[in-house]
Amino acid sequence: MPPEDLAYALNQVVHNFGAVAVVAGSAWALGLARRGEPGRTAAWTVGLAWLAQLGSGSLFGALSLYFYGRTPDLSAVAFAALGIKVACAVAGLGLTALDLLGALGPAGRQWLWWWVLGLGAAALAAAAFLRWFA
Ligand code: HEM
Repeated sequence: MPPEDLAYALNQVVHNFGAVAVVAGSAWALGLARRGEPGRTAAWTVGLAWLAQLGSGSLFGALSLYFYGRTPDLSAVAFAALGIKVACAVAGLGLTALDLLGALGPAGRQWLWWWVLGLGAAALAAAAFLRWFA
């Protein structure tokens, strides 16, 4: 088994479960916020999932550098999709941190979790374009 294939596959496992946790965790947190409940466990799940996506996403690039000496040549569409994913992850992490800091009241928290869920969905959609336009 080629070591680079194993490394990419294991990193993809982390990245795929991270994507599930971002979207499912945001839906969970949104449900709690709509009922006026605190939901710190849900918010921590989503925050850690965004960090996992940033970490494993960067590791894809690092693995390419390590095994092939360069990052993949991306088309303009794939590059834009990657930029959207990074922007979603940074914005999603920031909003999730705001909730954990208790910065917003009940109505604001509902809006915040709709946005985080939307950012997760946008990143998932961008992943498809990164995959097939790379
Ligand atoms: C810093 C942020 C991110 C970076 C740098 C990144 C990078 C990558 C890379 C390099 C791939 C492999 C693409 C390929 O197979 O050609 C990938 C796949 C994927 N990413 Fe991300 N990603 C990030 C964030 C996210 C987020 C936030 C989500 C979802 C919430 C996500 C979901 C996915 C999925 C589902 C795949 C598999 C696509 C497929 O093979 O069909 N990523 N990502």
